[in-house]
Amino acid sequence: TTIEWEAESYDMGGHDTYMHKEIFEQPDAVDRVLRGRIDDRFATVRLGGLGIDAREARAVRRVKILGCGSAYYAGQIGAQLIEELARIPADAEPASEFRYRNAVVDPDTLYIAVSQSGETYDTLAAVQELKRKGARVLGVVNVVGSAIAREADGGIYVHAGPEVCVVSTKCFTNTAVAFALLALHLGRVRDLSVSDGKRIIAGLRRLPGQIAEILAGEAEIARLARTYATARSMMFVGRVRGYPVAREAAQKLKEVSYVHAEAYPASELKHGPLALIEPEVPSVAVVPDDDLLEKNRATLEEIKARSGRILAVAHQPQEAADDTLVVPRNEVELDPILLGVPLQLFAYHAALALGRDIDKPRNLAKSVTVE
Ligand code: G6P
Repeated sequence: TTIEWEAESYDMGGHDTYMHKEIFEQPDAVDRVLRGRIDDRFATVRLGGLGIDAREARAVRRVKILGCGSAYYAGQIGAQLIEELARIPADAEPASEFRYRNAVVDPDTLYIAVSQSGETYDTLAAVQELKRKGARVLGVVNVVGSAIAREADGGIYVHAGPEVCVVSTKCFTNTAVAFALLALHLGRVRDLSVSDGKRIIAGLRRLPGQIAEILAGEAEIARLARTYATARSMMFVGRVRGYPVAREAAQKLKEVSYVHAEAYPASELKHGPLALIEPEVPSVAVVPDDDLLEKNRATLEEIKARSGRILAVAHQPQEAADDTLVVPRNEVELDPILLGVPLQLFAYHAALALGRDIDKPRNLAKSVTVE
């Protein structure tokens, strides 16, 4: 069974689809996840529902993040943020894989379940199994009072507001921001400096305006999406910070446009998928201006040499790419949050051009409450 949203009860506000409406709600949604949580005096954030004191936060040796679909990809961004800002080893794993592999449950690991609905069965089952074994589990959840929120020991509500479209957009972004808050908090009770704390806070505050700036470029994104939508298949590539962005963007394109898409770490291209690159198979490359820019440029050249068309999502136009969507720069750690936004509109406009049922893609449900 699946949960049916009472879609009729939500105002469309002049948008033709919920996906479009929810993409455009992101500046406000991000504003909400930040509201009341920033503590300028100590260059940190206050997360009232976490239920972990400073001593416990310092005792965490490892973080394991669990979720399904877009929640899992948002969790991957979260794991990177926690490693970067708090220097705690962290990784994300599909909740279903975790629960079926008889994972070792470790008392010094902080487990975090991520879910928009808070009702996804695989994620809930993973939480229940963890709790049965005495682990501490936090929830990063959108729906207040949902099953996962209730089962968890504490957590962070992502405050994205109701998300009706089957595919996640604003909740994905808000979940990534919620993880930035958690990473900042964990970092500041450990070794993250005051100046880095301030730098991240300033970056967080710039996000809503920068998202609005990206969304204002919709016409150009739509034009590009229409030209790429005829592709037989698309490759999405990114390195480290860009990789989860590429994964989520490929997922989004598949879900709403039914165009086949695969995401790979840029460096893995040469170990297999490069064989697929040809004019009919364009690539989307996520290329932030971080310390890996030169490596990413080399990847663009590799693709170009196989006559593959390239759309770069970057902080500056990329010479080797046929097209570049330029995204405003934030702090390097927070850049993934912004790099994903134009690719939501890209998937949306590809689906629109192909006449898809955008809010209710075939074979998918908003919330999968069965095994
Ligand atoms: C379904 C949806 C996905 C979503 C996933 C996890 O498969 O189609 O869009 O990412 O469930 O949902 P959750 O509510 O746990 O975030």
